[in-house]
Amino acid sequence: MQLTCLPSTSSLPGFQSSVAVFVFPVFVCVCCGTSTSSSCRIRGGVITWLPSSCSCPAEAATKFFGYGSRSSGDQSAPTGPTAATPHYPALPCFTSYLPVKPCTPSSRSSSSPAVIRHFGNILALSEERLQHGQSWLLTPLRPDVLTVTPWLAPIVWEGTFDPVLIDNIYKPLNLTIATTVFAVGKYTRFLRDFLETAEQHYMVGFKVHYYVFTDQPEQVPAVTLAPGRKLSITWVPKFNRWQEISLRRMEIIQTAIEERIRKEADYIYCLDVDMKFHNRWGPEVLDTLVAAIHPWFYQLDRKQFSYERRPASKAYVPVDQGDFYYMAAVFGGRIEDVHKLTKTCREHLEEDKNNNLEAVWQEESHLNQYLVYQKPTKLLSPEYLWDDLKGRKPNEIKLIRFSAIIKNKAEVRENA
Ligand code: UDP
Ligand code: GAL
Ligand code: MN
Repeated sequence: MQLTCLPSTSSLPGFQSSVAVFVFPVFVCVCCGTSTSSSCRIRGGVITWLPSSCSCPAEAATKFFGYGSRSSGDQSAPTGPTAATPHYPALPCFTSYLPVKPCTPSSRSSSSPAVIRHFGNILALSEERLQHGQSWLLTPLRPDVLTVTPWLAPIVWEGTFDPVLIDNIYKPLNLTIATTVFAVGKYTRFLRDFLETAEQHYMVGFKVHYYVFTDQPEQVPAVTLAPGRKLSITWVPKFNRWQEISLRRMEIIQTAIEERIRKEADYIYCLDVDMKFHNRWGPEVLDTLVAAIHPWFYQLDRKQFSYERRPASKAYVPVDQGDFYYMAAVFGGRIEDVHKLTKTCREHLEEDKNNNLEAVWQEESHLNQYLVYQKPTKLLSPEYLWDDLKGRKPNEIKLIRFSAIIKNKAEVRENA
């Protein structure tokens, strides 16, 4: 088998075309599952390697996982996935893929079918396409960031998962992913870019049902959706304060779940509209209760998190509590878990209102308070919720997947 892989430079963080990069990948044939360690060299953005341990057609073996070190010279690269040498900074794990072509039946592995648990049922999946590169217990996939919380929820970062494997696990489940987005008042202008970029990067290949909530249904742009995807429009009133437009989403989502979404979808993700997708935002986000870490707060002491600090509010979080500061522009999970979240936040918002209180960041404060006590089962790293205002991408962010655009708040908000 002979392979040539041309990764985009964006899949090689920190890589410049003028330097030689040695990588120590594990090559895996997605067809038969055979893996082999090898070394190869990257120059000018081109990787070439010649593994020979499987007899599948070249097109079938399309995947590599790698660790490596970087040098500007022509040093010979040690082999093996753990071989990153101490004198060169370790490159984080990266993945790159060529399009997968179907396997021939004769080349499939004869191992037993993979079994996964889905909604409490044991589900056997065909073994085809469920093979992946070996995981090395002593080789962390991302040595530079936290990838699991103290309550053992994964934190999703580039390099921590195999996107092909994740797609292949979730595709046969035939899931529908409800996606709520609000465009009220002048925010309808953000819908086109949101939807067009979502069609390129959001749950590609999955059944997505967008639920657009707006006060101006005629302003919803006609965007071509991929087969199996659809969009429904629901009219909502325009409240006259932007804070209220934002916080009332909890109640409207709760009601929409009760009236239709729980009959129409398996998962629900609730997203801000003043955003664009830039890279894959796929089924790796699926889990029971999912929250996204706020891109402005992940390096701060929890005392500095912008939680509601007045004990009289239902959103109150004491200074010595709290795990991460989550941003309300993204939350989701299984329908009933998100229903419970939105219902509780709505009740807490109403209770505060009856006491003439509005939490410092409205529904985001209540979301954060809820998640201190109902821990999310999966966390999305700031890759999944970035902010264009942050400017230069720091090293730990290998790719920006979804980011808030820079908007003129005074111009778009009702009462700003
Ligand atoms: N929103 C809206 N119209 C408004 C204000 C807010 O549709 O006048 C919705 C929209 O979906 C927006 C979300 O509420 O993305 C949250 O508001 P915003 O994005 O302004 O908050 P930020 O992310 O800037 O804190
Ligand atoms: C801002 C963001 C707000 C809110 C706030 C919390 O960056 O725009 O929506 O999340 O942080 O302090
Ligand atoms: Mn926003």
